[in-house]
Amino acid sequence: MASPDAPLLRALRGDRPERQPVWFMRQAGRSLPEYRELRVGTRMLDACLTPDLAAEITLQPVRRHDVDAAIFFSDIVVPLRLAGVAVEIEPGRGPVFAEPVRTAADVARVTSIDPADVAAAAEPIRDAVRLVVAELGDQVPLIGFAGAPFTLAAYLVEGGPSKEHLRARGMMHADPESWHRLAGWLAQVSRAFLAAQIDGGAQAVQLFDSWAGSLSRAAFLEYVAPHSRVALEGIDVPRIHFGVGTGPFLADMRLGGIADAVGVDWRMPLDEAAAIVGPDTTLQGNIDPALLGAPWPVLAAHVDDVLDRGRGARAHVLNLGHGVPPDTDPTVLTRIVARAHGDVE
Ligand code: CP3
Repeated sequence: MASPDAPLLRALRGDRPERQPVWFMRQAGRSLPEYRELRVGTRMLDACLTPDLAAEITLQPVRRHDVDAAIFFSDIVVPLRLAGVAVEIEPGRGPVFAEPVRTAADVARVTSIDPADVAAAAEPIRDAVRLVVAELGDQVPLIGFAGAPFTLAAYLVEGGPSKEHLRARGMMHADPESWHRLAGWLAQVSRAFLAAQIDGGAQAVQLFDSWAGSLSRAAFLEYVAPHSRVALEGIDVPRIHFGVGTGPFLADMRLGGIADAVGVDWRMPLDEAAAIVGPDTTLQGNIDPALLGAPWPVLAAHVDDVLDRGRGARAHVLNLGHGVPPDTDPTVLTRIVARAHGDVE
């Protein structure tokens, strides 16, 4: 278990530790050859539900990069699998559901599953988290995570990945009652997934609303934010709320102040974001993943600029603006960590 003075935990509380905390979304995964090797012959969701494998994959990037947090290796659709929903992750594509949830009858069917079933089936999650936490030192907490109701619905209503999430966004307006029933249920499912990770020893959580940027501010406030709040309410570890393209409603991503930190993608400079979220919120981000392949001097100058602008916030956790692309050279990530820590280069 990490000490409360671990740099990440201090920054999430609003302090500025001497060591700049840094971790990367999707740091565990295909950018690492050791991950690709371990995953041969095992389907993604089976890997997520095999405790020693999930634990080892979680630890790989921590050993390699010297990051200030581990992010639990799992997926946003894992709690749906635990609830008995038929879902697979297709390589190179993403989550695919055997039966999309499109009509009022579909919504009634899926929401009749008791979210308590997720908690009951989550033993492999608790076990994997315990194995990870036992290996992490006292300076590196484990971040647990879950998908926000809208991002989960973007897959579940469509039945798979989509560009503009029209079916999920459409349901809000065509049948608001079904939408609210579905999003409310998804909030409970994600909450149960977070609770299992916290039980196992996760010391912070991140709610991923990766696709929230496809919403208008009005739709976010009416149809999404109340449910995301439910997913995070009453959780007693620091909470990070992340989305891509949420600049038009960044202040609302604070969820009325229950988010300790808000993630910012690469589109908005952090000094601007800091002025929007105000003095009570830590910022996380926002290295542009598109620069990871640039010559080192170009990337290093960008990292320095992100760090400079991050000083405008009450505290800053360095990260990318979205996940590590699979073709990233992992030595570049190690170099970014060293620079953020002031070690070399
Ligand atoms: O380091 C980490 O962040 C690891 C844990 C993690 C994964 N997925 C592992 C994963 C986390 C936090 C997620 C969250 C997730 N899953 C999100 C939100 C984060 C984001 O990137 O916006 C979303 C939208 C998903 C749904 C999902 N799962 C997608 C779009 C994909 C990619 C499909 C592909 O092959 O390109 C997945 C699969 C997935 N989740 C992989 C990993 C490592 C790749 C699986 C593989 O190795 O084949």
